[in-house]
Amino acid sequence: MTKLVPVLSEHWDEKDSFTIQAYTRHGGYKAAEKALAMDPDAVIQLVKDSGLRGRGGAGFPTGMKWGFIPQGDNKEHYLVVNADESEPGTCKDTPLLMANPHVLIEGCIIAAHAIRAKYAFIYIRGEVTHVVRRVNQAIEDAYKAGHLGKGVEIILHVGAGAYICGEETALLDSLEGFRGQPRLRPPFPAIAGLYAMPTVVNNVESIASVPAIVLNGAQWYQSMGTEKSKGTTLYSLSGHVKNPGQFEAPLGITLRELLELAGGIRQGHRLKFWTPGGSSTPIFTDAHLDIPLDYEGVAEAGSMLGTKALQIFDETTSIIRAVLRWTEFYKHESCGKCTPCREGTWWLVQILRDLDAGVGTEEDLNKLLDICDNIAGRSFCALADGAVAPIISSLQYFRQEYLDQLANKGSLFDPMESTLFAPAKAGA
Ligand SMILES: Cc1cc2nc3c(=O)[nH]c(=O)nc-3n(C[C@H](O)[C@H](O)[C@H](O)COP(=O)(O)O)c2cc1C
Ligand code: SF4
Repeated sequence: MTKLVPVLSEHWDEKDSFTIQAYTRHGGYKAAEKALAMDPDAVIQLVKDSGLRGRGGAGFPTGMKWGFIPQGDNKEHYLVVNADESEPGTCKDTPLLMANPHVLIEGCIIAAHAIRAKYAFIYIRGEVTHVVRRVNQAIEDAYKAGHLGKGVEIILHVGAGAYICGEETALLDSLEGFRGQPRLRPPFPAIAGLYAMPTVVNNVESIASVPAIVLNGAQWYQSMGTEKSKGTTLYSLSGHVKNPGQFEAPLGITLRELLELAGGIRQGHRLKFWTPGGSSTPIFTDAHLDIPLDYEGVAEAGSMLGTKALQIFDETTSIIRAVLRWTEFYKHESCGKCTPCREGTWWLVQILRDLDAGVGTEEDLNKLLDICDNIAGRSFCALADGAVAPIISSLQYFRQEYLDQLANKGSLFDPMESTLFAPAKAGA
């Protein structure tokens, strides 16, 4: 049985965990001190050696990304922290920032030093005002304590609230004051990013993982996880699970183990389907409980580790209704720049709404797949690939449920039963 290894989340249950006093009490800002005394290239090498991979979804090696920044080019370099976190089910950066914003600030100081940047920008989605306030306070306290302002400045930017602004180039456009839409690549941000200068964009959890690596060394980090997926990470369990929340464990833990740690599926019910990495990753079923939740294991089984957002659905949930809800989200969040995504997601919603009502024919299932085929890989950015992932995988595993619903000419499920308050209402 794999054990939880709280590194990022070690002190989250302390009342004052978010304060600079608590952070300093636990050795906070010592890693920055150590890193600032090192040559920037040595810091990059250390992060490379640790095997840390980006926690924003794609799993790109963090040290390698830093190494792409051209050195000695006499240009301003920028660090941008992606705290947009808007994908359904993804809920790790928000709790991390609420419980320990200083670990991100310390990570920024180290990363900025490594890539020779003077400015670090933290881009937070606009809706989470409580997080904005907390990070703002932490930045103020870090300035007062002298950790910031002596080489690294942090600028907090609050987005207007759009999922697409989590896509790194749309984020950069938004940060520059333009409408947030993805940019054509190349040039990649490492060459021409923010204000056309070499820029590193990293997820909150990626940057927050760096101080512990600097303090404890690459070997320590390498010793956790699996062959190609090193270290610990935050898995978020939500939905029909007894104790939802964040569970920090070495990469490679299985859902079976995580469910045990989370008290299992809610009482009297059984697992039907789940997402391994948020709503943009192909769904899994109860046949996938023992897949190692690392980048390779999940990919081999046909999905993606993504943001490690494990949304759990029991047998009371209609697969069609769940997929419809996700698709409505993607239709709403499509930025409209390219036709397959803008028009395709609209049509997908129309067909899924009918199927949810039990209206249509088997031919509509093929039409769904045909539209998906014309969206995936034919759109400008990965939002579109994510939009079709739940649809295609739901038809792969639950085609019969779609057909049964058509035969029934109406939904087979009572939405009330899948609500979290349903058992209490039924007197269970
Ligand atoms: C539609 C869309 C939304 C995204 N949202 C986020 C997000 O909220 N946070 C994030 O870190 N990465 C998000 N990403 C991934 C980023 O483009 C980028 O890969 C990531 O910030 C890189 O950081 P990392 O290397 O530390 O993982 C999103 C990508 C897409 C296509
Ligand atoms: S795929 Fe969708 S979100 Fe991405 S650029 Fe095209 S319209 Fe915008």
